[in-house]
Amino acid sequence: MADINNKITEEAIQENTLDAGIQHVNNPVLDLPQIVKKYLQKVTSYMQKENSFLFTDGSATVEVKVVSDEIIRVRLAPHSQFLEDFSYAVPNADQHVAVYAFQENEETYSVSTNTVTCVVNKGNFHISFQDRDGQIINRDHSPMHWEENPDFGGYYVYCTKVATESESFYGLGDKPTQLNLRGKRVTNWNSDTYSFSFNQDPLYRSIPFYIGLNGGEAYGIFFDNTFKTYFDFASEVHDQTSFWSEGGELQYYYIHGPHMMDVVKRYHSITGTHYLPPLWALGFHQCRWSYYPESKVIEIAEGFRKRNIPCDAIYLDIDYMDGYRCFTWNKHYFSNPKKMIKSLADNGFKTVVIIDPGIKVDDNYWVFKEGKENKYFCRRGDDYFMEGHVWPGRCQFPDFTNPDTREWWGTLFKGLVDVGVAGVWNDMNEPAVFGRGTFPNDVRHNYDGYRGSHRKAHNIYGMQMVRATYDGLKKLNHGKRPFTITRSAYAGTQRYASVWTGDNVATWEHLRLGVLQLQRLSVSGMPFCGTDIGGFSGEPDGELFTRWIQFGVFSPFMRAHSAGDTREREPWSFGEELEAINKKFIELRYKLLPYIYAAFWEQTKYGFPILRPVTMIEQEELGNIVREEEFSFGDKILVSPVVNPGQLTKRVYLPKGQWYNYWSHEQLSGGQEHDISTPLDQMPIFVRAGAVIPEFPVMQYVDVKQVEVLKLLVYYTDTEVNSFVYEDHGDTFAYEQEIYLEKKFVVKGNKNNLIINQSVDGLFTERYETYKIHLIGFPFSINKVMADDHSIAITVENDIPTVVVNKDFRNILVN
Ligand code: GLC
Repeated sequence: MADINNKITEEAIQENTLDAGIQHVNNPVLDLPQIVKKYLQKVTSYMQKENSFLFTDGSATVEVKVVSDEIIRVRLAPHSQFLEDFSYAVPNADQHVAVYAFQENEETYSVSTNTVTCVVNKGNFHISFQDRDGQIINRDHSPMHWEENPDFGGYYVYCTKVATESESFYGLGDKPTQLNLRGKRVTNWNSDTYSFSFNQDPLYRSIPFYIGLNGGEAYGIFFDNTFKTYFDFASEVHDQTSFWSEGGELQYYYIHGPHMMDVVKRYHSITGTHYLPPLWALGFHQCRWSYYPESKVIEIAEGFRKRNIPCDAIYLDIDYMDGYRCFTWNKHYFSNPKKMIKSLADNGFKTVVIIDPGIKVDDNYWVFKEGKENKYFCRRGDDYFMEGHVWPGRCQFPDFTNPDTREWWGTLFKGLVDVGVAGVWNDMNEPAVFGRGTFPNDVRHNYDGYRGSHRKAHNIYGMQMVRATYDGLKKLNHGKRPFTITRSAYAGTQRYASVWTGDNVATWEHLRLGVLQLQRLSVSGMPFCGTDIGGFSGEPDGELFTRWIQFGVFSPFMRAHSAGDTREREPWSFGEELEAINKKFIELRYKLLPYIYAAFWEQTKYGFPILRPVTMIEQEELGNIVREEEFSFGDKILVSPVVNPGQLTKRVYLPKGQWYNYWSHEQLSGGQEHDISTPLDQMPIFVRAGAVIPEFPVMQYVDVKQVEVLKLLVYYTDTEVNSFVYEDHGDTFAYEQEIYLEKKFVVKGNKNNLIINQSVDGLFTERYETYKIHLIGFPFSINKVMADDHSIAITVENDIPTVVVNKDFRNILVN
């Protein structure tokens, strides 16, 4: 560790000449004759403050901070004055411990951890990141730079990195485009984009985090800047990737890999993971704009039960409110909400309601009055209230960046929770304003005491709204897990909510776009995501709807939703034949619930995404860069939704290893493509050899009955594969105190096959008494099965040898 050396002093700052770094460029956007771009100059001195290293060129200062062994943060202060260290995305950049070292030689300074070295070049202030072997993973193409923008008096800040010839790029949230972002320029500015189209940008969310994949090695860059940001992935210049912002600080995290999965996991280590959702939230949800009056809601719910189509939640869109006033009921349509919600609950339905940020300007409306009296609403730069039209007409908008406003907002849900509402859908929170899109830039925000205009707060407005909703519900729920969805988001929103991709369209192109968007959201740290199944606007035909339901089974969030001017859109709306197929797939979702729940647990605990693109599974295979429709759902199931009409076979790539066709149990070798038959009642689903897939019996809703016998589908392997089953209360936070159970099963292949019921982690008492084990794909005829040295009976169920064992078994030997 070096001593403090060459202290950064005022004099040092004065001495350095700035002129050499000035470039004059025209700025067509602002129509100003000259904007001056300033570049960092040669480094003149540095100093160390614990795990932060400050380098200066005599005028500007760059901080390189060791956040963890694998994460390094870089910040630029053009005039050596950093903003206060506050971030909505990263609640605490100081929580990690790392061992680090500092070295200086003639040309460079280096800050190293056990896994990564950040090298600062003294001559040109270029920053690069190297792995332990000294291999450069990512480096600057030019020094960080900025321009003073006379329009608002702040800086536009820029960082330009080298893009190597073969580098590909992933992430950035909900961009409706190819998975690999190479050749694209994208913008982050949360926007209400009804009926968005392929390549449209920006949409609803801003997740300024990308993963670069370079020669099979991955790294991540998280540009934690809430202003309007841009990313250019070798689009303007073939060998450069740039990111920049219309204000705020140039502050980014370099996240080391080399595996994409580790990059995502480490990104979650600083921005948080999704809490474990209540189990019911993983079931099927039925939504529409809008089901009303209450007789219609009941009729829809009964429609499910009558047909035995499982469903856990029904949604009320804006028409449940009185004149679209949030936290009120339209008494004409819903004369007794409590009674209706109770009767839905008795029938196994949770009720989820929509809430928008626009509060109607109406002095006779208690929410408006409270907000006005307590100064909770946003104001313009000239101190007038920010007013705009949304559903209720003229509205004002809470400043969710004010902690007092958030606290108040959380309390407003009391009435809804008291009548039994189980979840809250946060919409229009980009924020959307009719006519003008969103707020003007001069609106002022509290920004948790750090102050900011709407330029700074726009992209986190929706996140802070759903944070307030989540915190409020958590308190009102007495320890039960809330369920929230949000349309708008910034990095870190996964701590508070699930997301859906907004107002899509009932076309095949949108079905395919959904497949891309959910994979992209998943690798961007938004794991609990879904699309409006069937397409929000427009009319799907039955085939499209059924194919979308199939994709929905393998979407982390599974909800059918449609606009108000469309025809009926329930699973039974397209005739009996399709109803049967839709039912079969919704049932499949319910069978897979314990598997899906375990995948969510892995997300909560370790930060692994639930959907994983093939590139993430086999990042060393360059050919995977163009594969966009196959993805894994958890780590044992791989699917490839059918996204074209009339498609009866689909060519599907399977990653290396052995796989089983879920329907036929046929064994298929990975590392190659296969032609898979795709009649409308099937979609390509594959299970990894050696997997143990836990299955529930089909149930109409979660918790309808206590599952005493858990089915385990055991797929033969000739190698060794681990799986686990996860259990807990299903709706409390007790798992945070280790009240859960994680059971590991190991399937070991050799001449015989061995199933080992191994470690148990957690304090929860297991619910299942017995396991019913299906032995799938065994290449020999099974004569004998021994459980802990006792021979047990083999029966045959659907042509599959099956054994029943007590939950405490240790070893099963199959001969
Ligand atoms: C927005 C939402 C949509 C909702 C509608 C009415 O368009 O994206 O899901 O149904 O508003 O509230």
